[in-house]
Amino acid sequence: MKKIAPSILSADFSNMERDIKMVENAGADWIHIDVMDGMFVPNITFGPPVIKSIRKASTLIFDVHLMIEKPERYIDDFVDAGADIITVHYEATIHLDRTIQYIKSKGIMAGVSLNPSTPVCLLREVIAELDMVLLMSVNPGFGGQSFIENTKRKIMDLVELRATRNPNLLIEVDGGIKESNIKEISDLGVDIIVAGSEIFKAEFPEKKLQHMKRLINE
Ligand code: DX5
Ligand code: ZN
Repeated sequence: MKKIAPSILSADFSNMERDIKMVENAGADWIHIDVMDGMFVPNITFGPPVIKSIRKASTLIFDVHLMIEKPERYIDDFVDAGADIITVHYEATIHLDRTIQYIKSKGIMAGVSLNPSTPVCLLREVIAELDMVLLMSVNPGFGGQSFIENTKRKIMDLVELRATRNPNLLIEVDGGIKESNIKEISDLGVDIIVAGSEIFKAEFPEKKLQHMKRLINE
């Protein structure tokens, strides 16, 4: 079963618990949590204390996407806050291998994310160590942007690298995914689809989510 991970970046921040429970009841598989520091990306969201408090709202996997400089400084805090998987950006940490090993030493899953301009081949030496690769299909920082078409080529490159180096690897794609393109993207070999604005800004978010989930699994 392919998974859908609503991004709470587009949820109502004054009703986080309500919105998380809503998507969980509608069949969300993971909760995607976008952490931004105003340095790695030009936007600031929230950090460990907020994650810790929303942890009580759901038993789903908390998929924490760190868009922060030198993420290794905060791994302990995000683990303590209740992250089940921590994804760091290739572009944000110098000692990527060490950062990955550190996340795994905490007993949780480790992911690496690539910006749209970063090629998949740069992951060759670490891919065997990873639980997941997150391909950004928009430039990170904001919800509601348009899907960058070149991502499809990158998904195909990653599917190829996965086959030779790490067949258990999960592939996640994040940014600009709508009801209209979800199936085409998912069919390229993606395991987890992130969707923010398409779900939370929909007139009927639960129906939208259920429909998108049906599309990728038919
Ligand atoms: C962007 C974030 C995404 C964002 C996706 O930097 O990483 O997770 O919430 O939003 P949509 O689905 O609206 O493009
Ligand atoms: Zn994200």
